[in-house]
Amino acid sequence: MLTRRDFFTRGAGAALALTAISPAALIAEDKIASVVNKQDSTSPSEDISGSRSLNAHAKTQGRVFGSAVIVKNIREDPKFAKIIREQCGIVVTTGELKWIALRPSRDKYDFNDPDYLLNFAQQNHMLMRGHNLCWHESVPDWIKTEENKPHTRQFFIDHITTVCKRYAGHFQSWDVVNEAILPKDGQPGGLRKSFWYEQMGPEYIELAFRTAYEADPYAKLTYNDYGVELDNEEDTERRKLILDLLRDLKKRSVPVHAVGIQSHVKAGSTFGKGLSDYIENLRQMDFEVYLTELDVNEDDIVTNDPAERDAIIAKTYSDFLRVAVANPAVKTVLTWDICDRFTWLNDGPTHHKKQPNRPQRSLPFDDNYRPKKAFFALRDGFNQKKNIL
Ligand code: XIL
Repeated sequence: MLTRRDFFTRGAGAALALTAISPAALIAEDKIASVVNKQDSTSPSEDISGSRSLNAHAKTQGRVFGSAVIVKNIREDPKFAKIIREQCGIVVTTGELKWIALRPSRDKYDFNDPDYLLNFAQQNHMLMRGHNLCWHESVPDWIKTEENKPHTRQFFIDHITTVCKRYAGHFQSWDVVNEAILPKDGQPGGLRKSFWYEQMGPEYIELAFRTAYEADPYAKLTYNDYGVELDNEEDTERRKLILDLLRDLKKRSVPVHAVGIQSHVKAGSTFGKGLSDYIENLRQMDFEVYLTELDVNEDDIVTNDPAERDAIIAKTYSDFLRVAVANPAVKTVLTWDICDRFTWLNDGPTHHKKQPNRPQRSLPFDDNYRPKKAFFALRDGFNQKKNIL
């Protein structure tokens, strides 16, 4: 068996070599059968509340498990709200705190939905995190007008100050800057040529963190990004650029406390040294690490059989967590919604081009709110520490 030391010195790849399913074997029946058999022993109707919940298992490792939610579903869908109450220790809004939702016009803030979720979280003794203060995909049209654009910097400061002050002392963390890296834009440091970047230059990142800290000194201020999970060239470059950015911010004492790994992964992917070294680098730089948006895109799976698909998806969750939660820097794990019924991966054609008519089974609970193999894989994933000691 691999020791914990082996794991860090030889890399997670060594551990994975024992268990990995290669993408080519996505539909290899013998491998699927072993996963199916193992997990069929757990009846889907068993009690999964209280000490059997995802958060209870995460807690045994000193971690918190939670989910992103669409606030409307908490308001209108009691079955969904019950799952969140039972399984989660932390929640985050999927869209309701983004600029476009929060700022319908220049002079208006609409805090209705995030306030509702915060109230729900507090009543149920959960933490809440904020997502996000700045993202290239959520820039309201009103700020892009010739009249307003020249004042972007002031709007940016006012927005972050107002929003952070409102929730100061209530949010566990904030995704302050989301997805600032895109090497193909050809900018220094691999920075994305977003609206914010174009209007304010690279300093917008530092400005966002400093402004947030002034308004809310309690929340852990987080840099959140995707594309860092795999051992390929693209993710290797992204990891390096993000680490360079964080090192530079740290050098200048910019208040960044945590780093989010979005964790939108594809079914059948393998995870190894790249991810484990990245997390270890972040730990050595004193960052907390959050897996912020975990889900498994199953568009590459060829078979249509739900049981086979669920087994591959569950295995992907296991493989990912085996590497990610081996490091104590990882403090929270959130899935991006918890029920297939609401996964963003079914919105539009973008995330299921190969299987456009097949709704994705990407999350721990199915369309009918039943726990799937992914649920048990995730839950077992929180117990894995023992296996590598
Ligand atoms: C997604 C939401 O889930 C969708 O409903 C919305 O239409 C687009 O944004 N990375 C992020 C999240 O940081 O904010 C994105 O959320 C998913 C990818």
